[in-house]
Amino acid sequence: MSSNLLHRGPALNGPHADGTSIESLYQQATACERCDLYRNATQVVFGDGAETASVVLVGEQPGDKEDISGRPFIGPAGAKLNACLEEAGIDRAQCYLTNAVKHFKFQERGKRRLHAKPNSGEIQRCAYWLSAELRLIKPKLVVAMGATALSSLLGRNVRVTRDRGKLFATPAGFPVLVTVHPSFLLRLPDPEEAAREQAKFVEDLKKALPFFRTSGEMADIRNS
Ligand code: URA
Repeated sequence: MSSNLLHRGPALNGPHADGTSIESLYQQATACERCDLYRNATQVVFGDGAETASVVLVGEQPGDKEDISGRPFIGPAGAKLNACLEEAGIDRAQCYLTNAVKHFKFQERGKRRLHAKPNSGEIQRCAYWLSAELRLIKPKLVVAMGATALSSLLGRNVRVTRDRGKLFATPAGFPVLVTVHPSFLLRLPDPEEAAREQAKFVEDLKKALPFFRTSGEMADIRNS
């Protein structure tokens, strides 16, 4: 994919967080009150993975399990993502995984906490942290998984269904590959359709392979 395929997203307004390490950004984020989501969440769930990663994967927000453990993508969507990354020949440990929104938004139904979609204000306010993570890591590619990640990175003019598999650029110039969120695959009731959609997601993920900094970075897993 050449850089002339890049379409620029809209500029993000507002201040930006700064830090010299992901750990220092995380420490700042533990006190975040930029929106109300911190009030009911257990903790902030920051990104996880190598600070030197070439490829950053961005999801929506932590789920119930992530909220409790403090780590992104460790629940059912994380298990599906792990399987698809493996199928694509990508080592999760070589990536940095994070979310557009860093606190779990939910509605209580009895003892259960059901996922609630973050609104555009919450997404915009939390872009403060995502853009700081990207400035620090300087990835060669950002993979936007689903509409919330896409909206945080590129604004409202890019659509998952219309634009999946295409490359765009954030206002800061980071290339963004558009794809679906792994939890979309978990919601499909028809097994045949789920298998077809999973194969398409894996094909999208494979487009990240050339962006790993050194061919050696992924060679181990591809040759095993
Ligand atoms: N879904 C996401 O988008 N992120 C997580 O960390 C878990 C589920």
